[in-house]
Amino acid sequence: MDKLEIEGGVPLRGEVQVSGAKNAVLPILAATLLADGPCVIEGVPDLRDLDTMLRILRELGVEVEKDLAAGTIRTEVRDDTKIRAPYELVKTMRASICVLGPLLGRRKRAEVSFPGGCVIGPRPIDLHLAGLEALGAEMRIEAGYILADGRHMQGREIYLGGAYGPTVTGTANQLMAAVLTPGTTVLEHAACEPEVADLARFLVKMGAKIEGIASPQLIVTGVSRLTGARHRVIPDRIEAGTFLTAAAITHGDVIIRGAEASHLTAAIATLRRMGVQVDRLPDGGLRVRAPERLHPTDLVTLAHPGFPTDLQAQFMATLAIADGNSFVTEKIYPERFIHVAELTRMRAKIRKKGPTAIVEGVDYLSGAPVMASDLRASAALVVAGLAAHGTTTVDRVYHIDRGYERIEQKLQGLGARIRRINDKTPAVDD
Ligand code: EPU
Repeated sequence: MDKLEIEGGVPLRGEVQVSGAKNAVLPILAATLLADGPCVIEGVPDLRDLDTMLRILRELGVEVEKDLAAGTIRTEVRDDTKIRAPYELVKTMRASICVLGPLLGRRKRAEVSFPGGCVIGPRPIDLHLAGLEALGAEMRIEAGYILADGRHMQGREIYLGGAYGPTVTGTANQLMAAVLTPGTTVLEHAACEPEVADLARFLVKMGAKIEGIASPQLIVTGVSRLTGARHRVIPDRIEAGTFLTAAAITHGDVIIRGAEASHLTAAIATLRRMGVQVDRLPDGGLRVRAPERLHPTDLVTLAHPGFPTDLQAQFMATLAIADGNSFVTEKIYPERFIHVAELTRMRAKIRKKGPTAIVEGVDYLSGAPVMASDLRASAALVVAGLAAHGTTTVDRVYHIDRGYERIEQKLQGLGARIRRINDKTPAVDD
């Protein structure tokens, strides 16, 4: 297992380039299952989760060519009789569930392993299943697999909202099932996340008929065939947001190239309340300049365009050294606070009360050995380590490698003293 070792205290300066969005590229690759003909996806980041999705696609009869130097993936369906996404792959990445919709839409049958537990709290897929059932798919769960038969699917009106708001990958699944389903499907309370809109735009390039993209009502008119298409994925707003916090916590001055400001309005507004100057650059991207002291502020995670849950941990780390108390409330995953204990090891003062963390700003964080637990919590520990006094060692970096492309190299480019330590001890999750 690799570790990251960080000597904190260097204000970050310089420019960093944002990669393509993990949470856009994964459903978009799943959507290539729908195509008659080759697809070319550009701006693809080099991530562990991406490799998992490519393995699943190969398992499902898709020929995949990866040119990572160019950031391009070419796919072409060679065998459309394969319908099984196996447990061995699905268990390592929940986004694997995104193959369910396209398999049903195109191959009319699917056998997808039921995703397992998750460290950020319960992550049910009941809305995915109910939506597909409402379209007329027959669904059974047997031996840990979702067995689905979509031969009698028909466009319908489907309400996709749940107790915690709309579902992102659930909307993606529904869209991918509906585009080849006869009739009109109306998805009410659909997720408006930029990644869902990006998927919808890719589907339109393939010949799908979708109205209301980026809105909570998506109207899909089924077509009989989709072609291959070429598409460049949107920049990763969560990676960009992580660099925003890295600049803020180190009192730095950083230009984030390729960041799409319109995808980050809640995060930018929060930083401005903290006294951080964030400017859109005329040629795209963002410049972030942080003062010596940060103001405390409150934030509540919500579905887009609300504050993203995937930046909650990184902002909490940053607020840990603000001048006063901040309230951080998690409304998407009320149990997503696993980073609190590790940040506390670094001298942060954080108390949890239900779905809210009360962050009492301290003068400084103290470097410590800490353990990465999930992707974004791990990113928060790196952010904290960049500002902490002394050395922070973040163990189990494979969590970060799932979703951040060459994070240590990008931070080194901004002057951070961070290095990867290769350790041959095998990865063990507990
Ligand atoms: N929910 C249900 N039933 C469902 C589906 C979701 O109750 O059938 C609940 C969830 O438990 C949660 C809320 O609805 O409380 C939102 O979950 P959602 O389905 O939107 O999450 P997801 O699609 O599984 C995606 C991202 C996550 C991100 C969430 C929320 C991908 C591959 N994953 O997950 O990203 O946190 O949306 O924005 O797009 C990450 O990148 O680190 C990550 C976890």
